[in-house]
Amino acid sequence: MKKLAIFASGNGSNYEAIEKAILNGTIQNACVSLVVVDNQDAFVIERAKKYNRTTFIFNPKDYPNKEAYEKEIENLLFKLDINLVCLAGYMRIIGKTLLDKYEGKIINIHPSLLPSFKGAHAIKDAFMYGVKVFGVTIHYVSSELDSGKIISQASFSYYGHKLDEVEKKIHEIEHELYPKTINYLLGEKDNESFN
Ligand code: GRF
Repeated sequence: MKKLAIFASGNGSNYEAIEKAILNGTIQNACVSLVVVDNQDAFVIERAKKYNRTTFIFNPKDYPNKEAYEKEIENLLFKLDINLVCLAGYMRIIGKTLLDKYEGKIINIHPSLLPSFKGAHAIKDAFMYGVKVFGVTIHYVSSELDSGKIISQASFSYYGHKLDEVEKKIHEIEHELYPKTINYLLGEKDNESFN
């Protein structure tokens, strides 16, 4: 059984998509062993309660620096024998402390076709730019924001004028692509077999 840790800061719809995918078999032989949240008001906490998950909620302001809270998280990941860390709307850059130990085992979901539209407002930025092909990227986490090696992408064309329609479609795609990609990585299948 592979053990996942999910890091989130907000709504947590991708976290819940992962839980549902474990229940319906899209993700095989895995469980969520830890949910890490950096914001005590995040709705993801309610979602994690529903699934009875161990949750580590922290306030970065309670620590002298990033190294200090990342060290605590690293200890938890080690103790729980975590195989894969999935960032799902986690609004912090992963620092050296976690990367040194877990590089290659931390992935992120980003709501654009990277390398276009990095950063926290990707959907709006792409929409305002006027692109006609939108998408989602799953990538490994590196020391540079939204820049690690790409694992999977999915896209769609949109010629309308409503940001909320684009957001809805992006989230639908995310909820499908993230579980599929996690299952692929856990199975260590060869690249050709991902589709
Ligand atoms: C998603 O759009 C994800 O791509 C981005 O943050 C958002 C998180 O949404 N990194 P949710 O909290 O999973 O609902």
